Amino acid sequence: MRVLSEALELIKAGLAKNQYYKIMNYVYKEAFSDYYMIHFPFYQNDTDDLLQGQKNLTNVCLSLLPSLHDKRVLEVGCGNGVQTLYIKEKYRPSLMVGLDIHEENIKLAESLRDNNGHQNVEFLVSDAQEMAGVESSSFDIIVNIESAMHYPEKDRFFSEIFRILKPGGSYVIADILSKVEHKNIFFRWLERRLDQSYWPLDSYIKGLSRAGLSIDMKKDITSDVLKGFELSSNWFANYTGSGKLRKSLITLFAKIQIAKHKYYLRNFSRYLIFVGKKNSGRQDSINERIIQMGS
Ligand SMILES: C[S@@+](CC[C@H](N)C(=O)[O-])C[C@H]1O[C@@H](n2cnc3c(N)ncnc32)[C@H](O)[C@@H]1O
Repeated sequence: MRVLSEALELIKAGLAKNQYYKIMNYVYKEAFSDYYMIHFPFYQNDTDDLLQGQKNLTNVCLSLLPSLHDKRVLEVGCGNGVQTLYIKEKYRPSLMVGLDIHEENIKLAESLRDNNGHQNVEFLVSDAQEMAGVESSSFDIIVNIESAMHYPEKDRFFSEIFRILKPGGSYVIADILSKVEHKNIFFRWLERRLDQSYWPLDSYIKGLSRAGLSIDMKKDITSDVLKGFELSSNWFANYTGSGKLRKSLITLFAKIQIAKHKYYLRNFSRYLIFVGKKNSGRQDSINERIIQMGS
């Protein structure tokens, strides 16, 4: 009976935004006795497991930024905080703040921080499109990994980055962008259910520029992420959960999610990293270089 209700939860979660990240946390904890980051893996080695693939993605994004050491760093859309704590430990900012719209994620992040005795790490519940409670010009670096595809009002998010960064401060955004306008009815319905709002590249470039943010680099990592998914058959070798039926359900749920993500990345979307700075003036004209980047 319990397994049946878990099966129903998994099916609902696959189709609903509010449940999705809660269930992902449950799946990680059940499958691996630990919480993992909530983003796609980036391929580096055949032996990488899921968590290592996820760390690779974080490292690739942060390697494009100036050093985080002794800086004030804000992670927007921080999920369960696993990535936030990883950044704090590996990159040694003086202050690390994680912000997410879901209170449940933030409670989990705070408990992981407290259990591991991390200092100078704070979490808050807030919306990326209006980061109430975050002071203007208060951070050196803003990190945003695989969250912005949930923001319908990206212009407001970009303006908030501009407001919150110190002059000359840097940002990295890793996001999934749309590469085709027309999807079939099922995928349009699924995107609405999961609160996904993919922007095409030209809108992204214009939006960042309008907000007064430079784009110093953009990197397409679609093929590295797809290759990361190729290792997914190995991920469940580390399965630690109990019960054969539960294991089958969780494995099936994971396989459906992986197949969906791969199909999307192959057919409808692309995975990009943008890195840039807060310009000294707002409403900068879109310069030649940026127009070329969009082509
Ligand atoms: C795919 S997860 C990524 C989590 C984390 N960045 C990581 O890489 O592990 C996306 C996260 O974005 C958060 N999110 C969605 N909409 C948001 C919003 N409007 N403001 C802040 N966070 C949001 C979700 O709650 C979720 O935790």
